[in-house]
Amino acid sequence: MSSTRFLTGITPSGTPHLGNYAGMLRPAIAASRTREVENFYFLADYHALIKCQDPARVQRSTIEIAASWLAAGLDPKHVTFYRQSDIPEIPELCWLLTCVTGKGLLNRAHAYKAAVDKNQASGIEPDDGVTAGLFMYPVLMAADILIFNAHKVPVGRDQVQHIEMARDMASSFNHLYGSEFFILPEAQVEENVATLPGLDGRKMSKSYNNTIPLFASREQLRKLINSITTDSRMPGEPKTVEGSALFQIYQGFASEAETEDLRQAYADGIAWGDAKQMLFERIDHELAPMRERYEHLIAHPEELEAILQAGAVKARRLSTPLLRELRSAVGLRSLVQASTSSKPKASKQALPQFKQYREADGRFYFKLLAADGRLLLQSLGFDAPKLAGQAISQLQREGAQALKNLQPHLQAIDGTDSQQILAALELLSQSCET
Ligand code: TRP
Repeated sequence: MSSTRFLTGITPSGTPHLGNYAGMLRPAIAASRTREVENFYFLADYHALIKCQDPARVQRSTIEIAASWLAAGLDPKHVTFYRQSDIPEIPELCWLLTCVTGKGLLNRAHAYKAAVDKNQASGIEPDDGVTAGLFMYPVLMAADILIFNAHKVPVGRDQVQHIEMARDMASSFNHLYGSEFFILPEAQVEENVATLPGLDGRKMSKSYNNTIPLFASREQLRKLINSITTDSRMPGEPKTVEGSALFQIYQGFASEAETEDLRQAYADGIAWGDAKQMLFERIDHELAPMRERYEHLIAHPEELEAILQAGAVKARRLSTPLLRELRSAVGLRSLVQASTSSKPKASKQALPQFKQYREADGRFYFKLLAADGRLLLQSLGFDAPKLAGQAISQLQREGAQALKNLQPHLQAIDGTDSQQILAALELLSQSCET
């Protein structure tokens, strides 16, 4: 097996700012240089369509994000850097995954739920203004990851649920079609990344309109830094670093020693104008060489296009053969191809199964389905997924005894008796032993 593979996507919506740089680009690029691993970075432009339906903006943002990553030092020779929409295997896999994904799983996705909650709070139709694109977003994201069989996916906290869903889809697919087509990916959450405050002191974010664009011109950068909110203390008056956006941004770029110097200068009563000048110099020092490369790339989109095309060729060396295998596995194949090797094994299909899930009441349930899908056993709600899991393993280990002990947690099902349940449990335990 090859080395660990990292993969992450960047949605091209908007212009990258200093917060994106300190929190994401800079650490990711540093990691891509040191890690003895394979790195995949891509522009998630299909994802951009969920939020942005202005074609010129999608294109512009794709140019700006691609240029930013390259200018900030991403080396396309060392990593695989590509644009999602250049990989036709991604939307194709997205459909294959769609067909093994429960709609209920997607109902629980944060982004969709947040949109529904917002509508409900304002008393309108729950799905008002919600596109199927937003609803399907976790499936597209799973396809992004699974098509390259990535092991690790560096993401922010808000994305962890999506990686778990990708695991679910991968294991459903593997199970259903009887082979380990997909590696189950894991989220990697960087705990101590810098979050920079914006001009007004709140977190730097496009939605607060308080950002400093990463590649603002020198003059623009100076102007924006001068507009950072400070208090009214006069030159000579000691100033506090706590809650000072200026200080925190400086810290995001300076060494520890430099940061200590500024802390001292605050205590000594540095004038705000001088502190702003220090911050400007520090940031400009780091960005000036990159800015030159950025401006060059923006002026030469044909160079960006060529780099991305080359990246797509590299990426498709992996995605094309995998998708060919997947198509055949699901039965989309030449009519003269023998249906042997990738046919699902009969034993995998004809088994009863336990399903664990969460209901709208927030509690955790399981049920046992017969091989033909008939409901045999239904639990009541548990407070934690672990408790539901323990009950399942008890049933699997102890059979009749567990069925008796767990009675208070189980619901009677019309038309099934404990004989049928025990037979199903028996079948399951035999299949685990083989
Ligand atoms: N949804 C991610 C975000 O908004 C971007 C993304 C799309 C992504 N596809 C991905 C991240 C696959 C990691 C892996 O940040």
